[in-house]
Amino acid sequence: VKSYDAVIVGGGIIGGSIAFELAQHGLRVALLDRQQPGLEASWAAAGMLVPGPESPESAALVPLARESFALYPAYVAAVEEASGKTVEFRIGATLHVFGGVHAEQTPEAIPALLAQHGVPAKALTPEEARRLEPGLNPNAKSVLLLREEGRVDARSLTAAVLSAASQKGVEILAETSVEALVIEKKHCVGVTAHGEKMPAGRVVLAAGCYCETIAGAEGYAPTRPVRGQMIALRPAEGRIRHVLRGEHGYLVPREDGRVLAGSTSEDAGFEKRVTPGGLQQILRAAVELVPRLESAAVVETWSGLRPDTPDHLPILGPTDIDGLLVATGHYRNGILLAPVTAKLVGEWMREEEPSLDARAFNPLRFLQKKMQAGG
Ligand code: GLY
Repeated sequence: VKSYDAVIVGGGIIGGSIAFELAQHGLRVALLDRQQPGLEASWAAAGMLVPGPESPESAALVPLARESFALYPAYVAAVEEASGKTVEFRIGATLHVFGGVHAEQTPEAIPALLAQHGVPAKALTPEEARRLEPGLNPNAKSVLLLREEGRVDARSLTAAVLSAASQKGVEILAETSVEALVIEKKHCVGVTAHGEKMPAGRVVLAAGCYCETIAGAEGYAPTRPVRGQMIALRPAEGRIRHVLRGEHGYLVPREDGRVLAGSTSEDAGFEKRVTPGGLQQILRAAVELVPRLESAAVVETWSGLRPDTPDHLPILGPTDIDGLLVATGHYRNGILLAPVTAKLVGEWMREEEPSLDARAFNPLRFLQKKMQAGG
């Protein structure tokens, strides 16, 4: 039986980025996926890179998100170099649109929240915004220009990350569903898959919403799937140049002219069906943002399962079981947070002081809550 310095459970962008990072530091790494890697939440993501807070609840994420955004250009360059693949990655302004035709009032909370976190945002009149993005709904009440955002093609990035990891010697084991952690005297010494033990110096849980299905992981990684449906559109005329976010949905342009429209947030278990109700909601929001999309071609529909957590924040760090680390629960931000997550896990593995305060994401926080509740 082969032994690894690290076994990473979950072959999405998070697991792949961690594997790539660890292999670059000379570790023998195996990356395990329950099916073919890279085909779950990372494959479904729109690839918006939003370092600022989207809501007051997500404000705790800002330092982590900002650091990851800053790491992105070097991360993509390293992945491209190691994989020999190119990835569509752009830094550019987003237009946050308030008060579409159906909206009653402009929420003041978002500009205030952005100001509080020092996110540069410029208020534009609808006319100014339409000079930047001529297709925008003329009924938009106000628009914020957020210069420091970005977008990336999540599918090609994830494929390139996996290929970069493989080039650096990571062993990628597909169709390898992990059933349990192997824990001996408060020390995690490996995992079991297909009923067989796979020994490892360290185990990193990065299996997104599937973490909770792994025996021994429940208390540390209580993730839950939140379905997001998506639609790819090809406009009949005119290109969309900016990421557009509205109150009911978002549009993310691609260099090939397609526009990704999202998304729903549904509690549907592990069911990945695309539904008429979901598509209707996304299309309504898309057409509200850019009315001429009414005549676009629908070229693809799909859905993915975001790994949500009880407090909607990621779960990152070592645990009270020696050798067990968690890096999951990135919910709506897995693509953005991949570089910083990989960096932090590398630091924890080498037992260095983490370069960022990650205490808010401590995997023990749910265990403590359970105990306080008398469980
Ligand atoms: N980050 C976009 C979404 O979760 O739909």
